[in-house]
Amino acid sequence: MTSQSQKRTKFGSKFGVVAAAAGSAVGLGNIWKFPYEAGQNGGAAFLLVYICCVFLLGIPVMVSEFAIGRRAHANVSGAFRKLTGNNRWIGVGVLGALTAFLILSFYFVVAGWSLEYVAQAVSNNFVGKTPTDLSVAFTDFTSDTYRPLFWTAIFVLLTALVLLAGVEKGIERYSKLLMPFLAVILILLSIRSVTMPNGIEGLTFLFKPDFSKITPQVILSALGQAFFSLSLGMGCMITYGSYMRKSNNLVQTAVQVTIIDTLVAILAGVAIFPAVFSLGINPAQGPELVFVTLPGVFTHMPGGYIFAILFFMLLAIAAITSTISLQEVIVAYISEEFHLSRKKVIAVSSLLLMVGGVLASLSLGPHSNLVINGKPLFELLDFVTSKLFLPFGGFLIALFVGWFYKAEYMRDEISNGGKLNTSFFPVYRFLIRYFVPLAILLIFCNELGLLPF
Ligand code: PFF
Repeated sequence: MTSQSQKRTKFGSKFGVVAAAAGSAVGLGNIWKFPYEAGQNGGAAFLLVYICCVFLLGIPVMVSEFAIGRRAHANVSGAFRKLTGNNRWIGVGVLGALTAFLILSFYFVVAGWSLEYVAQAVSNNFVGKTPTDLSVAFTDFTSDTYRPLFWTAIFVLLTALVLLAGVEKGIERYSKLLMPFLAVILILLSIRSVTMPNGIEGLTFLFKPDFSKITPQVILSALGQAFFSLSLGMGCMITYGSYMRKSNNLVQTAVQVTIIDTLVAILAGVAIFPAVFSLGINPAQGPELVFVTLPGVFTHMPGGYIFAILFFMLLAIAAITSTISLQEVIVAYISEEFHLSRKKVIAVSSLLLMVGGVLASLSLGPHSNLVINGKPLFELLDFVTSKLFLPFGGFLIALFVGWFYKAEYMRDEISNGGKLNTSFFPVYRFLIRYFVPLAILLIFCNELGLLPF
């Protein structure tokens, strides 16, 4: 072990490990992105395909990422070098760090929106507004030049401060304290939403699948959403795996994180869709769905003023536990591979991410000419990362683990050196060697129209 790897920090308690990984997984992806993706892709049909992707592809890839990270004890790119002894696979790590950069460029902007909505909630701005008013207010705000950028900058700064505090003190402490709160608020919101007039229609939309709605595009969206939501395919869980202890049970952690993440996404759906139908909002409205629907719910519930403030604060907190994990991929990679101080890398990467954020935010309004291939930069970043880079990263990780890395080493890592029962190992091995790469390949080919059926 090198002196550098001995210096690396570690997560503390077992609960802390789950909380940190779940903190990364649970974020805007669950509460902002999942509902609007489901809304645009047929509701229950999307949910069904999503759940299949999460359990059949997500869990095996997450276990693999944890194992790679903990075994190599290094950042996303260094991990592949350490495990193979050569540089052939480090491209997966570089792709991961690049993907983190691209995701953060729009993620920080949306995280900033949640802060604006905290401010709006505090000034009681939602009262008396119809869904149309709320939608207009949202578009006015997001297409403004400076206001969204102000909040984006605050978010970039907050994330940098937590990263400076370090892995255990920063990441773990915040995740552990705040995640359970979010679940409680979502449950209360769900109860209110379901009991609104016509609320049941929203539940039917979310849970009663219309199989004819399952198209190649729906499948690709669900696949991308599964990787995005579980923080997979870009080495985030490799980086977090590298901070885990030899005694952590990787499979159990992956299953727990996946279940928590999926429950939060479904809960967000239950909080949103009944209200969408009750308030007559179009479920396929896109990225503004949550920001238009939930303020509508708050105005219809007792204590709505407080709930609104709490909800958007918790959304910001869920976002920060994810931005930390995304930026940590970049910071660990650059500081370890290029032997630079973490502080410097945090400062410079934050500045560059702010530039990315500025471009993404401006593409929504004042500079709507920032359009590539017919999509505003903001949308393009989301599309390229979720629907291409993350599944492709997952594909490469599955190939590496399934075909290039010794199965025995993997079994050793997953069983904590033979201490844990590994009767499920053949199933895991089958999934990661055949099912995951083939499924991703087929979904890509299907989307490109390369399949005959
Ligand atoms: N999983 C996070 C969310 O659902 O908001 C986003 C994310 C974090 C994606 C970390 C990828 C990642 F590596």
